[in-house]
Parts: sequence; C-alpha cells; structure tokens
Amino acid sequence: MSAVVDGGAPGGPQEAAALRAVAEQVARAAGELISRGRPDRVEVAATKSSPTDVVTAMDTASERLLRTELARLRPGDGFLGEEGGHEPGSSGLTWVVDPIDGTVNYLYGLRAYAVSVACVRDDAHPLGRPDPATWTVLAGCVHDPAGQETWSAGRGLGATLADARGTRRLSAPAGPALGQALVATGFGYDAERRAEQARVLAGLLPRVRDLRRIGTASLDLCSVAAGRVDAYYERGLNPWDFAAGLLVATEAGAVVTDFDGAAPGGHGLLAAGPALHPVLREALAPG
Ligand code: IPD
Repeated sequence: MSAVVDGGAPGGPQEAAALRAVAEQVARAAGELISRGRPDRVEVAATKSSPTDVVTAMDTASERLLRTELARLRPGDGFLGEEGGHEPGSSGLTWVVDPIDGTVNYLYGLRAYAVSVACVRDDAHPLGRPDPATWTVLAGCVHDPAGQETWSAGRGLGATLADARGTRRLSAPAGPALGQALVATGFGYDAERRAEQARVLAGLLPRVRDLRRIGTASLDLCSVAAGRVDAYYERGLNPWDFAAGLLVATEAGAVVTDFDGAAPGGHGLLAAGPALHPVLREALAPG
C-alpha cells in the first residue's frame, strides 16, 4: 500500500480527490477482509443499544484495519468509528467510518452490507467530535463487497459507481409523482422508536408505489443516487451510517435534508430527487 497521502491545498478539488482515493483504498481493503473472512456461521460478539443491536468479531476487525490504515496514510487526522468511538486528530479533518453497515444482514448471510468511509471537516468543532449539523463531507466511499460495487464521491467532483463494467458518473433522477415512488426506509434498534416509525410507515404505504427495507443506510443513499429507489428516509441514524452515502447522493444531484429542510442527522434524514423531495417531505410531516 502507498505511503502518507498529502491532500493538497485545504478545501480544493485536489484535496477532495486525494481524500476520495484514500477512502476508496481503505474501504476496499476492509471489504475484502469482511467478505473473505465471513465464517459460514457468524456469531454475535456483543450487543450495544438493545439486544438486537449486535457487534460481530468482523465489525471489530474491520474497524481496526480502517483505523490502522488511516493512521498510516493520514497521520494527524481524527477518527470516529461505530465500534471504537472518537479519537481526535490535529489536522481538522476526521474520518467517519462504519466498518460493517448492515451488520444484521451480514449476520444472517444477506448480501446487502457495506463498508462506509467518509472524511469530514467541522469548523465549529475543529478538533472535537464532528457534528452532522455543522460538518462538511469532503470525500466518501461506500464499498459493497458482496455486490462488488464501489460508490464514491468527492465534494464538487461528482459521484461514481465502479463495478465489473467500469466506472460511471451518477445522476439521480428528479423523482416521480408520490404515487409512483419506490421509497426505502429503515428502523432503529430502540423498540419505542420503532413503534413511532411503524405509525409513520402505515400512513405512507397507501400513498406510494411501495416501500423497501434494505437494511443498510449507506446503500439506501447510494441507491437514491443511482435511481434504484426514488427516496430514502429514516430517523435515528448515527453519523457513520450516512456520512459517505450523504455525499454520494448529493454529488449525484439528490437532495438530502432532515424533515424540516435543514442538515440531516440522527433526528431525521430524507433523500430524494429534487422534484420528489418536497412532496415526500410534506407527506412525512406530522398530520
Ligand atoms: C444500521 C443500518 C440500518 C439502519 C439502522 C442502522 P448498522 O446500521 O444502516 O439499515 O436502519 O438505523 O443502525 O448497525 O448495521 O451499522
């Protein structure tokens, strides 16, 4: 693997391109580890926020690989990982990673799981834990090792999908009328939140083409970027679930906000093409 990566002038396209290349490199390496290393029967190593919010040995191993490689390639940058938490850096940049997004799919042998790696700058908290309300995502990669698809984006540089057929630029469709929309969503691990999510879902289902629950927030966002679904919404996400996918979707031309039109975060995320977004926002507003 290559040595320390210099990002070029801060905030410039060269920096975004260099960070994007790093994100792709480490996400692919972690993807190789988790797909090749997946045992026939994956065991739960620990649980987190609830008995169904699980960690496998591979989540930990993948995050260790990402932390080690990023420290080697980008010494001075901070790190925020799903399993190990925040480690401040000195450069003002932080890598936000989900070592396996879609852990429950991975546990059951379903193929929709991914490694998500993003680099963010948060001028409001330059050396602290980055906050999605104030951060700028500079580069991101969502690597799907089972599907052999690598989604990536650099701020101002567009978004691409690389697979066996080559690399192509993504352009999210504007979106259909609400009644024709295929809408993805997801659920948190907290039972009370799920009851509320079920209520919202019951109101939306009769008004749209259909709903999808893929189980991997980062891939939901990439699916909006590619027009594989028309929209995706969820409440209760963590920064590592959506940092990279957010950039892929917005660089592809999708609109990603919370339910009030502000920056997305744990309180809400809604991604859709520019025509569908305001209509769906209205449909999801508390009645
Ligand atoms: C989860 C997935 C899921 C979403 C959950 C996330 P994890 O991430 O992205 O699709 O609905 O809210 O927590 O736990 O598999 O990394």
